[in-house]
Amino acid sequence: MSDIFAKVQEAIAAAEAETLANPEALEAFRIRFQGSKTVQGVLEQLMAEIRNVPNERKREFGQLVNTLKQLVEEKVRSTREAFESASAGSGGVQLDLSAPGEPLPLGSRHPVSLTLNRIVEIFTRMGFSVADGPEIEDDWHNFTAMNTPEDHPARDMQDTFYIVDAPGILLRTHTSPVQARVMENRKPPIRIIAPGRVFRNETISARSHAQFHQVEGLYIDRGVSFADMKQTLLYFAQEMFGAPKIRLRPSFFPFTEPSAEMDVWLGTDTEENYRLTKGTGWLEILGCGMVDPQVLLNCGIDPEEYSGFAFGMGIERQALRLFNIPDIRMLFDNDVRFLRQFAAVQ
Ligand code: PHE
Repeated sequence: MSDIFAKVQEAIAAAEAETLANPEALEAFRIRFQGSKTVQGVLEQLMAEIRNVPNERKREFGQLVNTLKQLVEEKVRSTREAFESASAGSGGVQLDLSAPGEPLPLGSRHPVSLTLNRIVEIFTRMGFSVADGPEIEDDWHNFTAMNTPEDHPARDMQDTFYIVDAPGILLRTHTSPVQARVMENRKPPIRIIAPGRVFRNETISARSHAQFHQVEGLYIDRGVSFADMKQTLLYFAQEMFGAPKIRLRPSFFPFTEPSAEMDVWLGTDTEENYRLTKGTGWLEILGCGMVDPQVLLNCGIDPEEYSGFAFGMGIERQALRLFNIPDIRMLFDNDVRFLRQFAAVQ
């Protein structure tokens, strides 16, 4: 009879001594004492023995088994909790999915991107789509296809970054090679703008940099005229600068004939416009012209059937004007104190 009491005492000692190192050990412990559908647990087995206990000691026996029962329950509960919080993350921190997120510092668009986006938006509204080309170009697309003769000064080592080990390979000096690439691969009508980075071997100063960005435009179809170009560029100047008028001055580019420089009218009403336009009221924005028939021929388009216009403009100078930035180098310094100021600009 006292054997039965001893058995309970042994079970209590065993339950206390058990170390539950992992969830599998915990589960085995739980089934051993509390049982499962198929296994009778130690607690149930001991309780069944109560009929062999004399009536006057039944109460004492029940309390002893109850002690074991509570010990087992407490051990299962606390061990399970410890495992759960350990798997919820480092340091035992509980994962609360309803907690508000950590605030992430918001980036801002670069002033060059902001300016470019405005330009792209205006031309896409007129039906132009965006085209792309490589920054590392070959001589054919950058110069030869664009009707730039071998002895043209733009090919000079002063202006162009050549790759020493790869003759005929260079960093593109303008976005015009994208014109050639698009014309070689597509049939007119062609209506594209091509934004991108260009490189020139220039001394870096407040006004010029050895790398900058341009947007190229190209429109080829049957019967495209100089008047179409003028109207397209006037619309752009009105949308971009709120300029009431433009001025086309005769110019020269090897790939356009006739060629022009376009100025927009800013006026001299404000001190800033006076300074920017050097007192003339006119700000030079882009180069343009009718695509030279030789360029069309070079790129496999029949100049008897098709004509078109092209234009190209720098983006940085417009960004300086738009955001009143005094020095072009600030655009490439990557100083977050400078860049952060554009966070609110759309
Ligand atoms: N590629 C010329 C430049 O970089 C700009 C231009 C493009 C002029 C297209 C005419 C037509 O200066």
